[in-house]
Amino acid sequence: MKILVVGSGGREDALCWKLKKEKNKIYCASGNGGTERWAENVDINPIDIRSLADFAKKERIELTVVGPEAPLSEGIVNCFEEKGFRIFGPSKEAAELEISKVFAKEFMRKNGIPTACFEVFNSEEKALKYVLNKKFPNVIKADGLCGGKGVFICKDVEIAKKTIYSFMTDKVFGKQGERIIIEDCLFGEEVSYLAFVDGENFLPLPSSQDHKAIFDQDKGPNTGGMGAYSPVSLITEELSKRIKKEIFERTITGLLNLGIKFKGVLYLGLMLTQDGPMVLEFNVRFGDPETQAIIPRLKSSLLEPMMKAIDGRLSNVRLEWDKRSALSVVLASAGYPEKYEVEKEIFGLNQIEGLENILVFHSGTERKAGKVWTKGGRVLSITGYGNDIISAKNTVYSAISNVQFEGMQFRKDIGEKEIRRNNG
Ligand code: AMP
Ligand code: GLY
Repeated sequence: MKILVVGSGGREDALCWKLKKEKNKIYCASGNGGTERWAENVDINPIDIRSLADFAKKERIELTVVGPEAPLSEGIVNCFEEKGFRIFGPSKEAAELEISKVFAKEFMRKNGIPTACFEVFNSEEKALKYVLNKKFPNVIKADGLCGGKGVFICKDVEIAKKTIYSFMTDKVFGKQGERIIIEDCLFGEEVSYLAFVDGENFLPLPSSQDHKAIFDQDKGPNTGGMGAYSPVSLITEELSKRIKKEIFERTITGLLNLGIKFKGVLYLGLMLTQDGPMVLEFNVRFGDPETQAIIPRLKSSLLEPMMKAIDGRLSNVRLEWDKRSALSVVLASAGYPEKYEVEKEIFGLNQIEGLENILVFHSGTERKAGKVWTKGGRVLSITGYGNDIISAKNTVYSAISNVQFEGMQFRKDIGEKEIRRNNG
């Protein structure tokens, strides 16, 4: 089958890798230095929907798979469906769960989906008055998409005031921060739980855990994600049942009540609190870097659940998973997640590509003159398998010791929480 994957990160590289293994012809727009190994890179920006549709028509693409949220929020699925093209991902209306945190929070409140208590403000004066009487820490969030940077945990009233000013007076996120949410701070461990959804039925993927902060021990500013592993032992059979019943089912039914059929991947960002799992955020797509830890564990087809989700026939799909753990570590450029350096030559990839139990996924890279160069903040995701999380971790870090580029930074503690848990 001819498949177009939209996006240019590590997530898309992992999706292209798996779909190529299933003997498909893959195109990736715009791709990176890694997707070139499995796909033909197409020089079209992932948000240039019209050009993507023209390309899909010209090349007779049989399935388009959307990686990032930006084209979903711009309505790529609505556009392709109107033209009669097959596309895997939610409509703009369904993507509202990720596009607007206010929509998501009000939706959860209405449908009894567990989440932190919150209030919405579009007046700065009212927000400032409200935080004066609020318990600290609390959490202030911009309504719209801010590339993972629109959430602040405020320890005291001064930080809260500064955050409100920066969103609403200085408009650091423009329109995205005109409305804000102030919510209770939740405590516990964060877990990502994703499922394929066909409008009515859902099929969960194994649990995973992202590591959002740039430095070890969750220190420093948040990033797109510095590493992930799967599965997470915290998600027991019993907890999984509860998440399905209280969150996935209520979300899908709640959307159906609004006349919305969600098709694609629904990603729950959960906090496992003493009072049970609560939703921190919805995403309407595969996670990055979670995908680099989850998809290598999928032994059965990836194409099948995608096609069946589109057709509303997920209920008869069974997924088969590798019992081993997978752990993925992101190698990032100097300066990331702030301004970062690019165009550094990457050394050592040849030494680890093809190693047993290792997969190399690319994010911000490009190939020039037979060499691989850095091109983005997150550069590579190195994934390793192991019979347990410790051996997966050792395999990955030992592979990483062969890779080098100027200013390369990465976390040394991916998976450590799970290791500590398993060892009492
Ligand atoms: P979000 O984009 O809403 O998932 O927020 C980004 C990150 O902020 C999350 O991954 C959490 O680490 C943190 N966060 C968001 N909301 C809360 C909350 N209510 N309590 C504690 N931490 C939160
Ligand atoms: N890993 C977080 C995300 O994909 O949004």
